[in-house]
Amino acid sequence: MAYDTIKRDSVNPACSASGLCLTWGRLCGKVSVPSHGGESMPFTVKGASCMPVITLPFGMFEANCHIVHNGRDAVVFDPSDETDSILDAIARNGLQLQGVALTHLHVDHCLGCAPFIRTTGLLPVVGREDWEQRDRLLCKGMCFGMAVEPFSAMPVSAGPLSWGSLECEALKAPGHSPGSLCYYFASLGIVISGDVLFYHSVGRSDLPGGNMAQLMASIRGQLYTLPGSTVVYPGHGPSTRVDDEMLSNPFCPGRA
Ligand SMILES: [Fe+2]
Repeated sequence: MAYDTIKRDSVNPACSASGLCLTWGRLCGKVSVPSHGGESMPFTVKGASCMPVITLPFGMFEANCHIVHNGRDAVVFDPSDETDSILDAIARNGLQLQGVALTHLHVDHCLGCAPFIRTTGLLPVVGREDWEQRDRLLCKGMCFGMAVEPFSAMPVSAGPLSWGSLECEALKAPGHSPGSLCYYFASLGIVISGDVLFYHSVGRSDLPGGNMAQLMASIRGQLYTLPGSTVVYPGHGPSTRVDDEMLSNPFCPGRA
């Protein structure tokens, strides 16, 4: 089935019967900050201490939606669901929403894209290879009874990006998906790693377009070359640090 033909009412009846997909983001969607494997350095805005990342895990897969900010401007990564909760967190912290981006095109990370775009008018940045293969990547969500409402996006390759006063480098990191991007904010000492690298684990490589050798090369070539103190914010689970993963990650140690 083509991505553009998917409708929300065409979800797997078995999944609907289980209540999982119909209650997506309602019963399962929690708003909380997961425990940290790593700690980012706070910075000061008008005398108050701020952390540069607000994490909101949503849905039955608890996909992390990260709001990265510098106390003034904010960019949202993977608006997986609950647009209202995301925008409420931005407003409560006095931030100005400047942009939205996706780490990759798996359904649990972009289920909320269409309503987010409708509400904010912002198009998400996404890896070019994932966008070119969006039909087969997003259709995989049908296995879990999740149908993504079609949305538009801005496909990009690796390179510098800026949203307001926030600047980052998009790092090309295939292996979990062909167009996975990680986003490195040097001034904040953080990287948004999507499903490439997790706390003491790595992403799956058995989904469409995945490749284990590419995944290992992406982690070692793009993430383990960042400063060791860089805090890693993954697409699922707690944050960690580059140096901790190089030392302790059982699936991808720093030394091959
Ligand atoms: Fe994924």
